[in-house]
Amino acid sequence: MPRSPVGRETDRVDGRLKVTGAAEYSGDYRATDLAHAHLVTSTIARGKVTGFDTAAALASPGVLRVYTAPDRRLPLYLATGQAAGFTENYLPLNTDMIHFHGQAIAMIVAESPEQARDAAALVTATYDTQPPRTSIADEPRVPAGPTISGAPSSLNILAPGVGSIDAALAASDVVVEADFHQNIQHQAAMEPHAVLAVWHGDRLTIHAGAQIPAAYALGMAQRLGVLPQNVQLITKYVGGGFGARVVLWSDTPLAAAAAKELGRPVRLVLTREQMFTLTGHRSHLTQTVRLGASREGVLNAVSHRSVAERPTTIAFTMTPAHSTSDALYRTPNLHVDAQLAVLDIPGSRAMRGPNEAPGSFALETAMDELAVATGVDPVTLRLRNNATTSPSTGLPWSSKHLEECYRVGAERFGWSARSAMPRARVDGQWLYGVGMATAIYPAHRRLGVVVRVQLRNDDTAVVSTATSDLGTGSWTMVAVTGADALGIPVQRVTPEIGDTVLPPGAPAVGSSGTHATVPMVVDAARNVIAELKRVAVTAERSPWHGAAVEDLRYERGILHGLGHSMTFGRLLTVTGSPGIYMESAPGGQPVPGYVHHSFGAHFCEVRVNRFTGETRVTRFTTVADVGRVINAKAARSQLVGGVIFGIGHALLEENHLELRTGRLANSTLADYLVPVNADVPDIDVVMLDRPDPVLTGPLGDGSEDVGTQSLGARGLGEIGTVGSAAAIGNAVYNATGIRVRDVPITLDKLIDRL
Ligand code: MOS
Repeated sequence: MPRSPVGRETDRVDGRLKVTGAAEYSGDYRATDLAHAHLVTSTIARGKVTGFDTAAALASPGVLRVYTAPDRRLPLYLATGQAAGFTENYLPLNTDMIHFHGQAIAMIVAESPEQARDAAALVTATYDTQPPRTSIADEPRVPAGPTISGAPSSLNILAPGVGSIDAALAASDVVVEADFHQNIQHQAAMEPHAVLAVWHGDRLTIHAGAQIPAAYALGMAQRLGVLPQNVQLITKYVGGGFGARVVLWSDTPLAAAAAKELGRPVRLVLTREQMFTLTGHRSHLTQTVRLGASREGVLNAVSHRSVAERPTTIAFTMTPAHSTSDALYRTPNLHVDAQLAVLDIPGSRAMRGPNEAPGSFALETAMDELAVATGVDPVTLRLRNNATTSPSTGLPWSSKHLEECYRVGAERFGWSARSAMPRARVDGQWLYGVGMATAIYPAHRRLGVVVRVQLRNDDTAVVSTATSDLGTGSWTMVAVTGADALGIPVQRVTPEIGDTVLPPGAPAVGSSGTHATVPMVVDAARNVIAELKRVAVTAERSPWHGAAVEDLRYERGILHGLGHSMTFGRLLTVTGSPGIYMESAPGGQPVPGYVHHSFGAHFCEVRVNRFTGETRVTRFTTVADVGRVINAKAARSQLVGGVIFGIGHALLEENHLELRTGRLANSTLADYLVPVNADVPDIDVVMLDRPDPVLTGPLGDGSEDVGTQSLGARGLGEIGTVGSAAAIGNAVYNATGIRVRDVPITLDKLIDRL
């Protein structure tokens, strides 16, 4: 009998398809009579386009169409309601207004991609240019809207008798105040944004990478002015999301509108350079953290303020102090505040740990500064300030094992060998140092998630839900949890995801796909097992015909009772059924009275060259409290990937916005540096594997027919990237005595001070 696959190292069910090239990504799909599109983008950031010279492009070989703004040959509409939050709020090619440098202003469609690209290079535009607003330091600020969880963008909690956060800070023995800055970062997913749009009469099929398939398809319907039931999105294999595929950007509606106007299928693949301006980024950001504490390092006041950008083309909320300072440490006085400056800048929304990664860099660096100021060991400092109830809401956590993360991590890493004194360890030209930081990431259930489980007469099962796999392992997660729920081997489960004809699935955002899907898999399996029993007692050729369902027990794919045993496949075969299926109830209301987060602790060693300032990460240990682990192999890969994002955040990644022109200056992968293998040491990852007893509903007690080992899972997609940059920065301080609060920590910020 198979053991439950939950928690084991399961190879990706789609691994062979991917390594053999058989997995089709959006740009790989073909269609008869396919035409190819290429975008022309603006070379100013604000103003109007006044005219085009398209004669050369029109005369270029293979060109079928040259659409220019605002000729309105590709009518688009603004999305409304829920879909509005996942689309842009302007109409590319339907307006002469320029909102950002790199906006789509024309589109060529030709017989081949090369012909379209060549013709696009021949289009020139004239503009009426205005100076763009580009500086978050200089532009007027507005309060950010409510946070993603509905909290106000400004929060002020004061102990009785305390008049203000400033008074609380002034009354503290030790105060740390620090300003942080970071430039724009990009998701830089490996797969370029690509779309194939095919119309069959009024019905549209789109192949595109999407993190929230249902919202993406709904947004498409509204952008094109057609009914939602006429749009099908297929998003089976996706080469990275990281937030860049949350929003329905302009490329997909434009390609679909062109396919309709032309009467042919159209494929549009963005260039790498175009992805930097057309598919989002992480906001340029300044933050100020002030901590007030006793001489022993016990916090009395935490203040965390941020200023981010607000692009004009997209509803946007970046609130980095929320989900970090409003959730992490116990403090009687707490103030968080998020402000935005309206800029003429490419649209941005989420990027991996959108609030938490930058917010934790500021908070966890400031905590390290507090450790230095008080002389308290950084791990001890965090244990002293560990919260047992949420500082912003007062609610308890459903599950929190952060103290164990610190202890296990410190032990594995050898933290006790650390010297608190900077520059204590020198080896030749290298200064060695160690640092640590905490990770925290919220866990939200998602409403309306439905899973369908089908039992087939060949003893296999199909588990279906319209979530997407961004490379994270969702295909395998669905197969593993289905196998556990039904008690059959993973090889006998066929997962089906990435298609909006399937039941509405979990959004692949907010590290929530797994914990939003798992309880619905169990529920659907429970329902289909009940249905199987009903078939067993009602079908004429069943050995249990006429018996009561209470006489039957389902165990590991087999029905038992009244002296008979039969696999579900055999029962379906003898009763003449190809298969039966049931859906779950739509999930999942949160359980009131709790807050839910995943937690972690990072420990890092760096070496800094004392002549050049070059920083290398040499060791990294991460211990994560992420609830029940479904697939240890994919989970480890997610956490390692998160830490690698942290290496990019701390040491490499930034795009410079040219203040005069509004141009993002290093929008190529030659100029925008991301970590490569040579930048990444072996990363030691431990998962505590403590099931969350609340988030996914009550844990099973083994009394049911359905397997419930997968319950208790909690998201882990983003937690690795939260705090990892601060651990690196803190290690750089320990190595050099230099505190850099402006990431990335590049050589120039160290070399003059070494
Ligand atoms: Mo993630 S930044 O919630 O796609």
